[in-house]
Amino acid sequence: ELGPYSHYMQKEIHEQPKAIADTIAPLLDAGFVPALFGPRAADLLPQVQGVQIIACGTSFYAASVARYWIEAIAGVPCNVEVASEYRYRTVVANPSHLVVTISQSGETLDTMEALKYARSLGHDKTLSICNVRESAIPRASDLVFYTRAGAEIGVASTKAFTTQLIALFALAGTLAKLHGRLDDAAEQGYLDALRHLPGSVQHALNLEPQITAWAQKFATKDHALFLGRGLHYPIALEGALKLKEISYIHAEAYPAGELKHGPLALVDDNMPVVVIAPNDSLLEKVKSNMQEVRARGGELFVFADLDSHFSESDGVHVIRTPRHIGVLSPILHAVPVQLLAYHAALQRGTDVDKPRNLAKSVTVE
Ligand code: M6R
Repeated sequence: ELGPYSHYMQKEIHEQPKAIADTIAPLLDAGFVPALFGPRAADLLPQVQGVQIIACGTSFYAASVARYWIEAIAGVPCNVEVASEYRYRTVVANPSHLVVTISQSGETLDTMEALKYARSLGHDKTLSICNVRESAIPRASDLVFYTRAGAEIGVASTKAFTTQLIALFALAGTLAKLHGRLDDAAEQGYLDALRHLPGSVQHALNLEPQITAWAQKFATKDHALFLGRGLHYPIALEGALKLKEISYIHAEAYPAGELKHGPLALVDDNMPVVVIAPNDSLLEKVKSNMQEVRARGGELFVFADLDSHFSESDGVHVIRTPRHIGVLSPILHAVPVQLLAYHAALQRGTDVDKPRNLAKSVTVE
């Protein structure tokens, strides 16, 4: 069943071009239309004035990317919150907002309870983004988008994450269209970019040998720092979570602009610093953050796009992902950090598919 792969996680990382192609297929057919989210969406989505996303773990990081998309592309206010926090605080609900829960399994207890709480506060427009058909959370929601990642067996979520991002991009585009912020040319532009995405992800997967060489260095470390900005800050968070979850290396992620507000004190020549540095409008800012790290002796491991000017130098290692792909870039940049965590764990001999203390589906508090 594993074919040429050593673990489910590795297989699932490599299944991403297909998982993404399968998940974008209805979007490429229909464009950004409410029908993608189920039969009631044509009625409910036009009423939506804001979005509240609730999720746990990796699904929460998908939500955190979506916040940038929904506000920038659709011009709709968007909040994101961890389910275990949302469910236990006094929330001021706005029933004109769409409550979106994201859960690969559809069975996560905190996410389910947060959804019930939102409903009890008067939220009557709820959407579930889920990978398991007819699981508890989509059954309790008004609208649903099923990602088509196929069964995900490794505890570390990989292909579910990238397909959740597709679902969320579809939501941002659909809300943008409903709010008159997406003309035909812009819609076609996004659809073209999506069509090319599986190929770009395949290119990123082909970087595996280079990433394996980096992972060998990581495996000897006790700590790592991940930096990103804007859309890629959540990818830094996801990279740090993957690394700690399966290799047990302590990893933290920060928005790069926060470095000098505290974490810079941690940096010395024993602290590897991974930087997600796509060729976007924040690149120059990221480069100056990198200089701050280098000046303290920190070793930099930079994921840069093919079309940006970066040179390797002493203490600065660069792996180039494909050409910059605009707002879809976080989907592409998720792949190398998954591979880095996988190969670091392999070096350390941990149980990659079943890391200690963790379960695939968290149905308890
Ligand atoms: O099934 P869910 O998406 O609701 O699961 C949420 C988290 O438990 C999950 O993403 C967890 O963080 C992963 N093991 C991370 O790889």
